[in-house]
Amino acid sequence: MPKTLIVYHSRSGYTRRVAESLARRLRADTEEIEVVGERPGILGYARCALEALGEVTPAIRLPRRAPADYDLVVIGTPVWFWALSSPVRSYIMEERRNFGRVGFFCTMGGSGAERAFGTMAALCGREPVATLALTDGQVDAGAATALGEFVRALRGRRASARPRGRSRARRKAAA
Ligand SMILES: Cc1cc2nc3c(=O)[nH]c(=O)nc-3n(C[C@H](O)[C@H](O)[C@H](O)COP(=O)(O)O)c2cc1C
Repeated sequence: MPKTLIVYHSRSGYTRRVAESLARRLRADTEEIEVVGERPGILGYARCALEALGEVTPAIRLPRRAPADYDLVVIGTPVWFWALSSPVRSYIMEERRNFGRVGFFCTMGGSGAERAFGTMAALCGREPVATLALTDGQVDAGAATALGEFVRALRGRRASARPRGRSRARRKAAA
């Protein structure tokens, strides 16, 4: 079974909840991206905003898992000022040479997903297998249908890759 890693940053818990639900459904490992230093309160919020707007790459803690060990890396971010969060930008910049296939998801108050996904694809240098954008209200409601569709889309590519491999093996066996 292809190995999947869910990598995410979460400041207030929404992206973490989605990541944990996806990890259960995909039987995937998880990696939380943690920034160096606390960012509490309104000053912390302002710092996050400025970093997102300025495309800053803050220092993040060393990841525990190597993305190169996985067939699929699914990256999750909260939307910050219609952009990806700065810790996820840092992670992608540090690890992008080690990605195979990628998928993206985000959580948000209401808008900015498409812009964030566009930037993530450009930074990764590849298009995602699938994307999922959820508002905080949808996460609170469980988002079971959207999560199920996203998991099926992520698995779809894997499933379509298998018959090609098998038929090559069969052709070889028959030769
Ligand atoms: C600094 C900052 C900027 C944000 N900017 C946006 C935004 O542009 N659009 C939006 O829909 N939500 C925005 N939000 C709301 C978050 O995207 C949303 O609450 C998200 O689910 C938080 O994820 P988390 O709980 O995993 O940190 C912003 C939140 C923060 C902290």
